[in-house]
Amino acid sequence: MINSVCFDDVLLVPQFSDIISRKEIDLVSCIDNRYRFRLPIISSPMDTVTGTKMAHAMSDLGGLGIIHRYNTIADQVAMVNSVLDNDYLEGNEVIGVAVGASGDYLERASLLASAGAKVICVDIAHGHHALMRHALKTIRNTLGNSVHIMAGNVATLKAFNDLSDWGADSIRVGIGGGSICSTRIQTGHGMPTLQSILDCAKSDRDTTLIADGGIRTSGDIVKALAAGADFVMLGSLLAGTEESPGDTIFSNGGQRKVYRGMASKDAQLEWRGHAASEEGVSSTVPYKGDLKDVLDSLEKGIRSGLSYTGANNLKELRSKSRFIKQSSAGQRESFTHIMLNDM
Ligand code: IMP
Repeated sequence: MINSVCFDDVLLVPQFSDIISRKEIDLVSCIDNRYRFRLPIISSPMDTVTGTKMAHAMSDLGGLGIIHRYNTIADQVAMVNSVLDNDYLEGNEVIGVAVGASGDYLERASLLASAGAKVICVDIAHGHHALMRHALKTIRNTLGNSVHIMAGNVATLKAFNDLSDWGADSIRVGIGGGSICSTRIQTGHGMPTLQSILDCAKSDRDTTLIADGGIRTSGDIVKALAAGADFVMLGSLLAGTEESPGDTIFSNGGQRKVYRGMASKDAQLEWRGHAASEEGVSSTVPYKGDLKDVLDSLEKGIRSGLSYTGANNLKELRSKSRFIKQSSAGQRESFTHIMLNDM
């Protein structure tokens, strides 16, 4: 049996800092040697997270959006056109799109690349799979190095190295940790996302690591980046914003928006007409207003996190950071606990 740690099992040890202003801290991260981003944040390719508005806003605010694949090729191409035709953008924007690893994936990837998508994300639940190997090789042979290929998801170092060797430029790491995910319940499989990041960060391949699933706070983002992630991918934290797809609904006395797993029964019935293994749930989250405010708040927390380690940038965070394990009493102390004093 192998021991593992999840986000709540650990804390980062505060260290000497000579950072006078948190504004000095540089959060730039690169997905490869062509594309750099002001923020190390990517929005999930889910139909309640990344459509046209989210992709545009993520690009505008310094992150990356991956437009979901749960539609026809023509619809997805139209989404890319609509983001790239956009007058606000200045020509150096990077738009990501998701494709599957079977069926129409190659035609989809080719047409999306022709429309101007720069990042093709081969998006399947169990990425360490023969279908992934075939899809990565075929997309690379067809599109060459003109596109950045993102792939996932995986949970282990072996899988990370294999996908890298099959041609992935960046890899989404995390299986079973998503807020709307029931994979671990349904299948008994998965790994705490933080442990997967720590393991995959040991890779000697020069492949970008994207932590994906179960990130709930800016504190989790800092832990993921310190553990070796180059980027985080967010679903629930960005769901419910003005820019996420879907209407605002009134429920439980407030405004809310739907956020659902792409393997939930609802989502599967809608995009493929039948439900295979149900490994996600459909839920609603409070309406959060503009994405900018959500990202601003996350960015402030991340900057503050780097300052507690005395790190000027993400590279320094990774090299300087020290994790400690906390006990269950420590975990209780770590969460806001003023209410407990009344007991
Ligand atoms: P969150 O940020 O914790 O909400 O997790 C979002 C991530 O969950 C996505 O980026 C996907 O990797 C993953 N995911 C999306 N839909 C499902 C699902 O139905 N089952 C399991 N994982 C999912």
